[in-house]
Amino acid sequence: MLRKVFELCEGAGVKCQLNLERWMRCAIGICGSCAIGKFLVCKDGPVFSSEQLRQTAEFGKGAMLKSGKVVPIKEFALWRQ
Ligand code: FES
Repeated sequence: MLRKVFELCEGAGVKCQLNLERWMRCAIGICGSCAIGKFLVCKDGPVFSSEQLRQTAEFGKGAMLKSGKVVPIKEFALWRQ
């Protein structure tokens, strides 16, 4: 859903800030479990600007499971069951 909001804002030329969620283990920028592109959600976020999200190609493409495995977003609903 956040990816869609981002795309709508980009299409309308509106800057946005989105609050991302990731599984976190350390929450102090050490373990990398919350990484999305070059950013760490626990350290650099959780709120990211349009400019930052443009630099994150994987934003909205996959979801990280509790195990740390990244699955395509379309398969995520199956893994949650
Ligand atoms: S939770 Fe460990 S780096 Fe973010």
